[in-house]
Amino acid sequence: MSSSSSVPDYLRDENLTQKTKDLISSLPSEKGWLVCQMYQFQGRWHTQALLKGILTCQKQFEAKDSDIILVTNPKSGTTWLKALVFALINRHKFPVYSSSSGEHPLLVTNPHSLVPFLEGVYYESPDFDFSQLSSPRLMNTHISHLSLPESVKSSPCKIVYCCRKPKDMFVSLWHFGKKLAPEETADYPIEKAVEAFCQGKFIGGPFWDHVLEYWYASLENPNKVLFVSYEELKKKTGDTIKRIAEFLGCGFVGEEEVRAIVKLCSFESLSSLEVNREGKLPSGMETRAFFRKGEVGGWRDTLTESLAEVIDRTIEEKFQGSGLKFSC
Ligand code: A3P
Repeated sequence: MSSSSSVPDYLRDENLTQKTKDLISSLPSEKGWLVCQMYQFQGRWHTQALLKGILTCQKQFEAKDSDIILVTNPKSGTTWLKALVFALINRHKFPVYSSSSGEHPLLVTNPHSLVPFLEGVYYESPDFDFSQLSSPRLMNTHISHLSLPESVKSSPCKIVYCCRKPKDMFVSLWHFGKKLAPEETADYPIEKAVEAFCQGKFIGGPFWDHVLEYWYASLENPNKVLFVSYEELKKKTGDTIKRIAEFLGCGFVGEEEVRAIVKLCSFESLSSLEVNREGKLPSGMETRAFFRKGEVGGWRDTLTESLAEVIDRTIEEKFQGSGLKFSC
């Protein structure tokens, strides 16, 4: 990716062991949108660095029964979901509706610093000791269901999956890429990016496999995987928080508390905080990169009708018969 200092290490292709380099050299690889080179592993495209994080995670991560793992495709509401679930499960430790909410960690810390990103942490610190996190451990990942560490699949730990309408996800990724890698993306035509997106050939792609794997997992095992959407969170934030709370067995959450969580984690509230306007993550990435518009249907000001149709056709083809619907 870019040599810009705001690019997190896990999107770079450095610091790899010989064993990882050998495995990587045996994988299909392509030049990609947003990255110089990407590699296909277990059906998905990754940078070398993220792949290293995933491999280490698969090898080392031991799930605990009480774990909560938030899963998303990139640009599908990860930051928001992290904030909401953090506020929810810590509401006794950090009350959101009392006068002490002035000291709430979300007011001074970006959600990505409060909820560790599994493969990112394993890339940056392969020996990171996840057992030191307080219980219940709250973590997030973009790893596909197929590639999850075995212990995550076999333990009763909980997975909350959030998906987003693909056109909004694409547009969010398009603008994120421009912020993160301005030199590489300056001359990259949006038509080519849409093509890569619809072929599934971009970092983290194909998006449909990711969504469908978790969708079917949620149907097969609704006590293990809860499937929510960005649009549902937007329309009925409070009700979705209650659904998540019930799924996680969080006990009673009062209406006042729910309202306070909705407010604390709203786009307007989080994006206006100094930590999310001026701050940086330990990786050097600017926190404001995670807050753009926060809208449903915002794709309209970036995609032409014909490009939108290209994505719509892909959605129709890939999600046909799944029961998942993404209307405009
Ligand atoms: P847009 O680029 O469409 O504005 P992720 O967190 O997975 O990287 O997703 C980023 C997207 O979520 C961005 O979408 C961002 O603006 C939006 N977002 C971030 N925080 C949000 C919040 N509290 N509420 C709603 N949307 C939010």
